[in-house]
Amino acid sequence: MGIVGSGIMGSGIAEVAAKAGIEVVLRSRAQSTADAMVAGLEKSLAKQVERNKLEAAERDTVLARVRAVTDLGELAECDLVLESIVEDLAAKKHLFTELDRICADHAIIATNTSTLPVIELAMETGRPEKVCGVHFFNPAPMMALVEIVRAITSSDETIAEATAFAAACGKNPVLVKDQAGFIVNALLFPYLNNAARLFDAGVATRDDIDAAMKGGCNFPMGPLELLDLVGLDTSLAILEALYAEFKDPNYAPAPILRRMVSAERLGRKSRVGFYDYRK
Ligand SMILES: NC(=O)c1ccc[n+]([C@@H]2O[C@H](COP(=O)([O-])OP(=O)(O)OC[C@H]3O[C@@H](n4cnc5c(N)ncnc54)[C@H](O)[C@@H]3O)[C@@H](O)[C@H]2O)c1
Repeated sequence: MGIVGSGIMGSGIAEVAAKAGIEVVLRSRAQSTADAMVAGLEKSLAKQVERNKLEAAERDTVLARVRAVTDLGELAECDLVLESIVEDLAAKKHLFTELDRICADHAIIATNTSTLPVIELAMETGRPEKVCGVHFFNPAPMMALVEIVRAITSSDETIAEATAFAAACGKNPVLVKDQAGFIVNALLFPYLNNAARLFDAGVATRDDIDAAMKGGCNFPMGPLELLDLVGLDTSLAILEALYAEFKDPNYAPAPILRRMVSAERLGRKSRVGFYDYRK
């Protein structure tokens, strides 16, 4: 398979697929990011060997399955290409046009988008029946779920192959139609957004909001911690897409999210968000 985008999700999905025995070509725009991704994968696998969760020999086999490249043309022989670049419709549309030109005729081109309309990406290609969503969760190696998103043009074969791919990766696929937020983010993001509003209104402190939801609902993470994990830029883009689709005030991004993104406080990825990860 090919993966385009070596951010949080692209690298995680590469690890999942390589561990499942799939040859992965991971495309990053810059060689430095491609190298950093391979180094990150090495580190993650080394940790698993240390914890006796992976044999040392298996680590080498998994690493050998991932090839990091910068040229999109290297994806020409892939059977499945999953894009996981920035959550921006114009950037993804441009990429789909390119992928349609480069990928083999039989290849499925899928998107890991959290909220954007899959149909708009499908219609950038000459193969809209071979386009669908394959939505992994963060962190991809740990989370069991994959949402398979059926655009109105996706064929039964495409959905069956995408579902089989998710299952081969050891994930639990669920099928959902192409509507903003699919299942998880449509339900999760009003909650996260309202947590940011509560914090901004000074109703409780950051630590008390997170402690309340962990202790009161048995959630593994508080909402502000989770926003930092997802990335505030990605969270803002998700809420904007949800609001554009439904015009429901619960989806209108909390102003503090926009201010934090302007200040480059993106969460863990920029090492500061609601929490400070620089120490
Ligand atoms: N972060 C999450 O929790 C999460 C979970 C599931 C799905 N997603 C989705 O996965 C996708 C990627 O998110 P992420 O969290 O990995 O983001 P990220 O910010 O970590 O990575 C984005 C990647 O896209 C690249 N990029 C930016 N602009 C580009 C362009 N114009 N062309 C090509 N590449 C470009 C960046 O260099 C970076 O490598 C998004 O569609 C997002 O909605 C994110």
